[in-house]
Amino acid sequence: MQSTRRTFIKTLSAASALTAAGGVQTVLGNVGAPAYIPNLARISPNDKIRIATIGMGIQGNYDTMAALRNPDVELVAVADLYDGRLAHAKSAFGKDKELFATRDFREVLARPDVDAVLVVTPDHWHDHITIAALKAGKHVYCEKPMVQHMNEGKPVIDAWRKSGKTMQVGSQRISSSSFQEAKRMIQAGDIGQINYIESNNDRFNAIGAWNYSVPPDASLTTLDWDRFLGDAPKRPFDAKRFFRWRNYKDYGTGVAGDLFVHLITGVHFVTNSLGPTRIYSSGNLAYWKDGRDVPDVMTSVMDYPKTDVHDAFQMVLRVNFANAGKIQNVTRIIGNEGQIEFSEENLILTKKKLPVAPGYGNYDSYFTFTPEVQQEFVKKYDAQYPPETRTAEPVKEVRFEAPKNEDGHARHFADFFKNVREGSQGTIEDPVFGFRAAAPVLACNESYFEQKVVHWDPVTMTRKSPAPTATTKKPVTSKARRT
Ligand SMILES: NC(=O)c1ccc[n+]([C@@H]2O[C@H](COP(=O)([O-])OP(=O)(O)OC[C@H]3O[C@@H](n4cnc5c(N)ncnc54)[C@H](O)[C@@H]3O)[C@@H](O)[C@H]2O)c1
Repeated sequence: MQSTRRTFIKTLSAASALTAAGGVQTVLGNVGAPAYIPNLARISPNDKIRIATIGMGIQGNYDTMAALRNPDVELVAVADLYDGRLAHAKSAFGKDKELFATRDFREVLARPDVDAVLVVTPDHWHDHITIAALKAGKHVYCEKPMVQHMNEGKPVIDAWRKSGKTMQVGSQRISSSSFQEAKRMIQAGDIGQINYIESNNDRFNAIGAWNYSVPPDASLTTLDWDRFLGDAPKRPFDAKRFFRWRNYKDYGTGVAGDLFVHLITGVHFVTNSLGPTRIYSSGNLAYWKDGRDVPDVMTSVMDYPKTDVHDAFQMVLRVNFANAGKIQNVTRIIGNEGQIEFSEENLILTKKKLPVAPGYGNYDSYFTFTPEVQQEFVKKYDAQYPPETRTAEPVKEVRFEAPKNEDGHARHFADFFKNVREGSQGTIEDPVFGFRAAAPVLACNESYFEQKVVHWDPVTMTRKSPAPTATTKKPVTSKARRT
């Protein structure tokens, strides 16, 4: 530990002579950016991993606490744009020692004592800070969705590959044991071939619809509005936009980026799928007409193609923030031999296999036949279907409860830290996985706003042109018209 840190300090003095080579290319430009000292040191198994959190809002606090529930992890710095959150972070996390706190995330990246950063800002800052952090030689845990726009995914992946650093995206539910159990069952063939997945995440309350509390001291003095805007269009100060940024597409990614992304991440994790090829959304702003420019009711349909690891299936996702009915949120994966219904806490596998013999009678055409034809039918049926083909296996139900004190959030961080220590770049949710989950949700938004079907190639992670359909008519030639 000591020697590693001493190496950092030596590196610092040597590197401080350098200019900000590979410095932060943020929307704020390079002016005044601190020099980065690429952190090339490996972390030995006995070292503490020193983290810094960039974005100390709601999830920044939860992420930091979850990270610190792992042994040998220490918080050394935080960055946030609102002074109240810096002060709160100092008192919540800096009781035993001085915690470095700044409005400027670049000062965090310039610190040689920071091994890894947690990027927990609004979505429109994810790519900028992640790329800058990787260039500065930091390991990165970036919140979901990994990026705000489709064209930001590949630059993040390239920066990660070039950096040699570990990166994890933060859809922590896949680290809970019910997701792992669902994956085990699906891979074991317990529900046969998947044909349909449905999942909803409805809510009906103001906080659930993102109307978070705005602190009464919010002003241009207590927060950095210009930096918040970043690459979003310039506009006068608006505390609602700063503290309720998810309501605006300039900074957030709507219900798809906030909620569908968890559902898609889970589905990709349990099915080993790379993603859908066709995405269509419809929706509406039905209830929260409070100035937001994103829908509060949205349904998206995605076509997953047949691959080497699964059959073709359809996925239907829904969020309804105006659901005044009885809310039952569930994810259901349906196969031709059963279904799995699961949440973070538990899972129910129901196995049902049809008998080979189709049966006859009851609500069937059999009774409409003449007696002679019925007799002939039964003779043929008996010859074709011996008794053993006529009974189905009894319906089986298997229930799985996650352990009571399970901490999937801390486990998600544990996977990140394990890979940091092992010097492995990959994680359970590395940026390639993260982008394959983010891109379909960004396509959901594109489909909603532009009222079109979005075509996507999940293997190459690029947009596709629509394949010609059977209903596409050939132009009628004058010759054809004559005949
Ligand atoms: N994994 C999950 O379950 C989960 C849950 C909630 C939120 N999130 C994600 O976490 C991220 C943050 O969400 P939140 O609810 O905590 O938002 P929030 O508004 O509560 O906090 C965001 C914080 O980032 C700060 N910030 C903005 N730009 C910054 C910059 N350039 N540099 C430094 N700080 C900056 C703001 O001052 C604010 O305090 C989002 O991407 C969101 O999707 C994930």
